[in-house]
Amino acid sequence: MSNNEQASAAMSQDGECPSARSYYMTRQTVEEMNNKMKLENIGFYTLEDFRAKNACVNSPLWRNEIIITSRCNFNCPYCRGTEINGKKGDMPLDEIKKSIDIWASQNVKNARFSGGEPTIHKEIKEIIRYTKDVCKEIEHIAISTNGYADLELYKELIRIGVNDYSISLDACCSSIGDMMSGEVKGSWNKVVSNIIELSKLTYVTVGMVFDKQNSHEMKESILFASNLGVSDIRIISAAQWDDFSIFENLSIDRKVLDKHPILKYRINNFKTGRNVRGITKTDSHKCGLMIDDTIIKGKYHYPCVIKMREGCNPIGIVSDKMRQERKDFLENHNTYKDPVCRKNCLDVCIDYNNKYELTNLSRHEVCVNNSADESTIKDSKRVM
Ligand SMILES: C[S@@+](CC[C@H](N)C(=O)[O-])C[C@H]1O[C@@H](n2cnc3c(N)ncnc32)[C@H](O)[C@@H]1O
Ligand code: SF4
Ligand code: SF4
Repeated sequence: MSNNEQASAAMSQDGECPSARSYYMTRQTVEEMNNKMKLENIGFYTLEDFRAKNACVNSPLWRNEIIITSRCNFNCPYCRGTEINGKKGDMPLDEIKKSIDIWASQNVKNARFSGGEPTIHKEIKEIIRYTKDVCKEIEHIAISTNGYADLELYKELIRIGVNDYSISLDACCSSIGDMMSGEVKGSWNKVVSNIIELSKLTYVTVGMVFDKQNSHEMKESILFASNLGVSDIRIISAAQWDDFSIFENLSIDRKVLDKHPILKYRINNFKTGRNVRGITKTDSHKCGLMIDDTIIKGKYHYPCVIKMREGCNPIGIVSDKMRQERKDFLENHNTYKDPVCRKNCLDVCIDYNNKYELTNLSRHEVCVNNSADESTIKDSKRVM
């Protein structure tokens, strides 16, 4: 079988874009692969083909997150918690503003604030106000929240600039819901009521984490969430309980899936035997995301949220050299050799990185193979 046929065969088996690393491909094959799956179809607005094609040290900052507090008013059983600068507490406002200033200087498009529970940060309103004021190109300001703040606070944050709430909801009834919050009584009712109201006002997605305590009601929970008026539903297993068997026979009505692209993407992946997490040999072994993402906690920036949550070391200290440091890290990092990436990287990140690698190969690394009558693309460094 020719190299070109090998590449095509690998693609047609599972409908995904395999890494170009293992193959020598024709320009035509790369184009076919690029067209096969558009990142836009996944449903995450930060992931799109245009970004993958144009990502470099000078492109706009695309997805940027700050963990603004380690404190929380819930105690979810699967949550490993976090610390800011080595201790429990809030990230100081001046440190947060310094990071936002750096984002602003690099045309930040999408900002996210998380925690801990970001809505209990003492300065949450000022943080959103400042982001809106100084980040002139900003398109989305997102908050990841447990949904337990007062509705009035959420509404005020929308007035100031928030246009994306990612809200956690792990159950379809109050008994399991309250248990999953760490026994905060009445919390599930309040969260559900907030989701219904906020879904009328802005883009709301629900994040559902399943472990052995709530996975028996997974299907009911998904259908329940779908009826709350949310734009999308992100289902995942708890990182420390990554059991694919809970998803294997999950079947959701097509009408429900058609309303929620991210849910549809995941369910379709499950049908092909693909779990939410895990890099395979044929995936890209480079992480292009980090070149125009930033993930900041306290004084430090990290490769990504996943690695930060798994307790990995930061790349460096937050400064205007951050972008270059991230590029250097990317160049010297092999995600398949990194056990944390290999085990924990998410499907959407993997698909992005596969597309990033392919599009950058086609943009920069097409060379003429003198021994063949067609252009070939060779494995080589692909960081710009
Ligand atoms: C750490 S929380 C912070 C924001 C907010 N407190 C919340 O719960 O949405 C961010 C996201 O991580 C998820 N999460 C927390 N621990 C997890 C774990 N062990 N495995 C998978 N997801 C987890 C939460 O469900 C939430 O969607
Ligand atoms: S609400 Fe969020 S931060 Fe708080 S314990 Fe649950 S997952 Fe962790
Ligand atoms: S876990 Fe995924 S997103 Fe994070 S650094 Fe590794 S490859 Fe990149």
